[in-house]
Amino acid sequence: MSLAFISLENVRCVEKAELGLHPERNLIWGPNGSGKTSILEGMFLLGRGRSFRTRNTERLIHYRTPQLTVFGRTADPERALGLQASRGAATVAKIGGEFLSSLAELSTVFPVQVIDPGVHKLLEESAARRRRWMDWAVFHVEHGFVEVWTRYHRALQQRNAALRDDATQASAWDPELIQLGESLAESRRRSLEGLQPYWQDTARSLVGREVELTYSQGWARDGTLADALRGSWARDEARGITHAGPHRADVHLRLDGLPAREVASRGQQKLIAVAMILAQLAMLREGFATSPTLLLDDPAAELDSTHLSAFIEQVLRLRCQLVVTALGPDPVMFSAPDRVFHVEQGRVRPV
Ligand SMILES: Nc1ncnc2c1ncn2[C@@H]1O[C@H](COP(=O)(O)OP(=O)(O)OP(=O)(O)O)[C@@H](O)[C@H]1O
Ligand SMILES: [Mg+2]
Repeated sequence: MSLAFISLENVRCVEKAELGLHPERNLIWGPNGSGKTSILEGMFLLGRGRSFRTRNTERLIHYRTPQLTVFGRTADPERALGLQASRGAATVAKIGGEFLSSLAELSTVFPVQVIDPGVHKLLEESAARRRRWMDWAVFHVEHGFVEVWTRYHRALQQRNAALRDDATQASAWDPELIQLGESLAESRRRSLEGLQPYWQDTARSLVGREVELTYSQGWARDGTLADALRGSWARDEARGITHAGPHRADVHLRLDGLPAREVASRGQQKLIAVAMILAQLAMLREGFATSPTLLLDDPAAELDSTHLSAFIEQVLRLRCQLVVTALGPDPVMFSAPDRVFHVEQGRVRPV
């Protein structure tokens, strides 16, 4: 599986661009502000329905236009997919000409992951990022997961709306919430258990030491979700939100038994976050014969030469499609790219 072709229209400063990509090593180079990251954002959008730089997709729409469009075609198997984001309207996407009911479905057709200079946020920022990280792998490992995930979040929204309007109606959602929520949590648990050997390997070779990765499901470990909902009812009613459930799940990273986000250096935080991503890719490749496309935006930033070589070795070992950005034509990642694109002021041309 790889991205064979992408066209972008009005993605930030890129008014129009078409790229025919190589299944292995692609390089996009150009000066600061030329549009390299914007192109990667367009690719990511196609597989995720969102950017990796902002939660607000509207920010990606070219200032002077009302909407952006991205089209793509994957190879092995060949699938066409497209996405359109407009100001003040919901983003819509299609696979093979059919509108999707949830953008999450894009993941199943075009698996894509990114490592950019903001990768440490995976450790530093809210649990929502780590849940997205967990869930993306589960989407590829368990085929019914997208549907369970989507239905759970809809039921949760309904329950929260009821809590605010007329709390006596809220518990009507509980049976569905409990059934879907337990199933979602179980899928995540299985996936993270399967990840452990890859995690230990990758963390050891990248960070150079043991980093513990543990899962918390979003309610007390030894109780059922039904118990947890009963236990949090008074708080739920008072605050108008549901306090227990897989929407509160997280993964915890510990170095020498202490939270990595508090004790790890900035460089180590970046390496831990990178290891989280690469371990998942290794698991998908070896355990599930899935090779996602990996976007690497300015990958050398902040890494010393020893860690950079370990990083490059891990990445090349994945043998997945790579799209790498750099300021010049000689990227640190590899010496001979299979395809090269030059970007200047939002205009892309193959070299
Ligand atoms: N919504 C938008 N509409 C038009 N232009 C935008 C929009 N958002 C950002 N830009 C501009 O797009 C340009 C390209 O940004 P981008 O981050 O892609 O550059 P880059 O090549 O990755 O640069 P760097 O090497 O500094 O990372 C910037 O000059 C930015 O001001
Ligand atoms: Mg950039």
